[in-house]
Amino acid sequence: MNTPADTGLRIAVLGLGFGQEFVPIYLSHPYVSHVVLVEPDDARRAEVAAKFGVGSGYRGIDEALRDDRIDAVHILAPVPFHADFAIQVLEAGKHCACAVPAATTREDLERLIEVERRTGKRYMMMETSVYGREYRWASALHREEALGDLTFYRGAHIQNLDGFPSYWQGFPPMHYATHALSPALDLLGTSVESVTAHGSGHLDEATRTAGGFDNPFPTEIGAFRLRGSDVIAEVQMSFFRTAREYIEGFWLYGSRMGLEWPTDQEGPMLVHTMSGPAEGGRGNRTAVKVVEPPDYLESLTAELRPFVHETVVQLPGMSDPVRVGAGHGGSHPYLVDEFLDAITEGRRSRIDSVRAAEWTLPGICAHESAMNEGARITVPTVR
Ligand SMILES: NC(=O)c1ccc[n+]([C@@H]2O[C@H](COP(=O)([O-])OP(=O)(O)OC[C@H]3O[C@@H](n4cnc5c(N)ncnc54)[C@H](O)[C@@H]3O)[C@@H](O)[C@H]2O)c1
Repeated sequence: MNTPADTGLRIAVLGLGFGQEFVPIYLSHPYVSHVVLVEPDDARRAEVAAKFGVGSGYRGIDEALRDDRIDAVHILAPVPFHADFAIQVLEAGKHCACAVPAATTREDLERLIEVERRTGKRYMMMETSVYGREYRWASALHREEALGDLTFYRGAHIQNLDGFPSYWQGFPPMHYATHALSPALDLLGTSVESVTAHGSGHLDEATRTAGGFDNPFPTEIGAFRLRGSDVIAEVQMSFFRTAREYIEGFWLYGSRMGLEWPTDQEGPMLVHTMSGPAEGGRGNRTAVKVVEPPDYLESLTAELRPFVHETVVQLPGMSDPVRVGAGHGGSHPYLVDEFLDAITEGRRSRIDSVRAAEWTLPGICAHESAMNEGARITVPTVR
């Protein structure tokens, strides 16, 4: 592995809404020498530059791609840009990290795989759900065989998108299924064979067409059949007209232990442990405990460890301290670490374009199924 002093990576962070959260994380990583801001909103870009004491950056991707000193671009622009921008970044000879979903069409996923393969540059889909502390703990329990045989997985992402930018209006919920589905696929090391999905409820004419999608459903639910596994992954995606506080989590059941996501999104998980029936009784006994998942900090670059929880940073060049949030189970520094390790170690990232396609394509197929009254759709292999 290269030493930090060898590399001195220049990372462009493109899109400074959610993207702002990643600026201090990259700045703190010992492999990174510069963070370059890319954002068309001049006022927003200037504010972020002042806050973190970095250069004024660029208004758009074209200028950033012309800058030969930039090694990698992390895309956090609106979803409709993801696939085209990622392909442009790789074609420009730079590494690319991209917020989910990697793409919203089968064709774009195929293009992405072809371009990553041809250019030899690194691509990583920055899927927060498989780096959050809840998933990391579930995965450790599964490896230790503490859960018993896995028998059922449920994922849900419920978020109200009213008032979000126009590109979100009427967005087909299953096109964003990666947060709810990926933990099952990662845990079992598999991909989706087929899906049957349904739309539930209805959107009014104005909402269903506002973003250019013509999606009639506020909620989509799907049953995903997994390759080489008898576990069904059931996923609920609700973006509109569903009175429920934001949640993005999973419920995982084994023959010995079940894990349930907290009601309030962040917080301890419910652990159900099943033992045999009481003497002469009927039905197994199940004990329920509330458990705070551990952080597993030892695998994370030391300088990034503070970002696993909300923290206050004052890095060189910053005039004032800044509070940095740590949403999505403290996953952001782990994602950055993996992306930078893949670059410096000269290997594919853990969520390269092939795995990104395996985690994104099932949702695209699920929306097709919902639009066809639950027809079973075979999800093609991408390997
Ligand atoms: N858990 C997660 O992984 C997670 C959470 C939140 C958002 N996201 C994803 O991150 C991305 C950004 O989310 P957001 O909430 O900040 O979105 P947003 O629409 O609020 O903001 C995106 C930012 O990108 C900028 N932008 C618009 N067009 C651009 C362009 N052509 N080039 C560069 N920048 C451009 C906008 O001005 C804005 O500052 C989205 O794709 C979203 O799906 C992922």
